Amino acid sequence: MSNPLPGSIEDTVGLLSDGRYVADRSLATALYLALKLGRPLFLEGEAGVGKTEIAKVLSDTLGRRLIRLQCYEGLDVASAVYEWNYSRQMIDIRIAEAAGDQDRDSLEKTIFSEEFLIKRPLLQALEPDLSGEAPVLLIDELDRTDEPFEAFLLEVLSDFQVTIPEIGTITAEKPPIVIITSNRTREIHDAIKRRCFYYWVDYPDAKRELEILAVKCPDAPQDMSRQIVAFVQRLREKDLFKLPGVAETIDWTNALVQLDRIDLDPQTVNDTLGTLLKYQDDIEKIKGSEAANLLEQVKADLAAR
Ligand SMILES: Nc1ncnc2c1ncn2[C@@H]1O[C@H](COP(=O)(O)OP(=O)(O)O)[C@@H](O)[C@H]1O
Ligand SMILES: [Mg+2]
Repeated sequence: MSNPLPGSIEDTVGLLSDGRYVADRSLATALYLALKLGRPLFLEGEAGVGKTEIAKVLSDTLGRRLIRLQCYEGLDVASAVYEWNYSRQMIDIRIAEAAGDQDRDSLEKTIFSEEFLIKRPLLQALEPDLSGEAPVLLIDELDRTDEPFEAFLLEVLSDFQVTIPEIGTITAEKPPIVIITSNRTREIHDAIKRRCFYYWVDYPDAKRELEILAVKCPDAPQDMSRQIVAFVQRLREKDLFKLPGVAETIDWTNALVQLDRIDLDPQTVNDTLGTLLKYQDDIEKIKGSEAANLLEQVKADLAAR
């Protein structure tokens, strides 16, 4: 069963929170407007800040099918939109030959019909699901593709239709809800951004990150969660190759819960840094005295409250 779209910004906050997603008001506003205006939502931000999760939560809470197009370098129409099922076409040709069927035109019509079409995410997204509702289309990590694909995508997004020379134009009766994400390894073309509602997903502040831990890691002791969040927030001020995202905060917390910790100590921090930092240079930089300093500051901050 699908649910109606949220009717207000408060509803949107509530919808996300039903999906265990802690959103601040500005994000809920962007999402509400994108849904209301029927425009794609373009989410940009560092890795691990919760961009992809928004599409998953929307699909869950709205009860709509999630169609995911994971972008990568060299992504082409055959993988993104459709492809003919060549092997099935070959089999049909052989069968026709064996049966002495000479009618080329009718054979061609048969093998270039929808039955022989392999539908990829962008084409699937133009079709309603069983309840007649349009799906949620997640175009994930668009910055990984190249510009020709972006230009093509722009066409699809402008009128939600795809033309297949042998069949004709397929148009979505109800346009899908589109979420586009980018980790900003390169700039996405203005033309795409202009078509979308743009939102920069930042690292959460301490208050919100603590709320996220309360939802995602309910088994972690409150005091330790506070220390974890304060530590990660301070770590994000350091000059590192890759700062930890929310995903890493959650991983770290789960690791500490597994180790039955109720409090951070320097040894444990050192031993578990690999859940927070994913580059050896970053780990070397923080491990030992730097980590001990950070931890001391964190404990002093928390004691002063
Ligand atoms: N605001 C949030 N509320 C709840 N969970 C969050 C939030 N932000 C991030 N997460 C969690 O962090 C993890 C990484 O999120 P993800 O969407 O994959 O990041 P991104 O796509 O930005 O790289 C997910 O497990 C997600 O549940
Ligand atoms: Mg992602």
